[in-house]
Amino acid sequence: MAKNKVEQTGDLEQSLPPQEELFQINGVILKKNVRDIWDQIWNFQAKPDDLLIASYPKAGTTWTQEIVDLIQNNGDVEKSRRAPIYLRQAFLEWARMSNSGIDQANAMPSPRTLKTHLPVQLLPPSFWEKKCKIIYVARNAKDTVVSYYHFQRMNEELPDPGSWDEYFETFLAGKVLWGSWYDHVKGWWRKKDSHPILYLFYEDMVKDLKREIRKVMEFLGKNLKEEVLDKIVCNTSFDVMKKNPWTNYTTDTKMNHSISPFMRKGVTGDWKNQFTEAQNKQFNEHYEKNMAETSLSFCVEL
Ligand code: A3P
Repeated sequence: MAKNKVEQTGDLEQSLPPQEELFQINGVILKKNVRDIWDQIWNFQAKPDDLLIASYPKAGTTWTQEIVDLIQNNGDVEKSRRAPIYLRQAFLEWARMSNSGIDQANAMPSPRTLKTHLPVQLLPPSFWEKKCKIIYVARNAKDTVVSYYHFQRMNEELPDPGSWDEYFETFLAGKVLWGSWYDHVKGWWRKKDSHPILYLFYEDMVKDLKREIRKVMEFLGKNLKEEVLDKIVCNTSFDVMKKNPWTNYTTDTKMNHSISPFMRKGVTGDWKNQFTEAQNKQFNEHYEKNMAETSLSFCVEL
């Protein structure tokens, strides 16, 4: 897509409080500081041996990143503890002060592992041209919205979510950062038919982590012994990752874990503690309409 096809609409900016620092691109809300580097993001030059981990926020991205890193390091835990996860794998559309995910990615030696939350239509075209392998992880919408709400409460770089009732409506309207959950999961689901994409589900990882790790290993063309796989299972459990400073984001000064920890609950079905009955009914109706024409289905309780 040429630069001139990227539409930036002024309407949304005007309707948002200025401190929220947002803009939208083709209907997808992103942080305003990303607008300044959008050309660099769009023109990012992927390499054929890049691996991309893509997801909607709160789908289990960090979990997948740590699994991938441990597989790449043949289960060597010390090697994976060389740096926080966000320094090991660059986050493409991220910028803080003069640091950007693009600069970080460009400085990384190959083979690189990169992260994005971009919806499929906004992914830099070079990933398709270079036929890069992509792992996409998806999580059911109900647990995603709850996790996202608590994340926006604790992360000072993201907009204040307001009350839960307000946020619930904002999410349903797709007016959250990185856009509509529906468009995201469906867009990537369709793309996997024409591109090497391993499409994972958070709920499958909760159910049978070893099976899902094996899938990732095979996708990466690796062959690890059973005991190495068991070690990776152990080191990517919720409890171990919650204690691990390289995966729990306690090294990120913009996150206030006393409001809500990044590694919060790590379960399927927590939405039941947050949704009212009326919200559940409303959500189900909205969901049915928006998911009517896809073969994609999610599990909301185990
Ligand atoms: P909760 O807020 O529901 O606890 P992301 O990395 O995409 O931001 O996703 C964060 C969510 O994944 C959080 O969900 C977090 O607890 C959960 N998570 C991270 N590591 C996990 C693990 N090893 N097992 C289960 N859930 C994990």
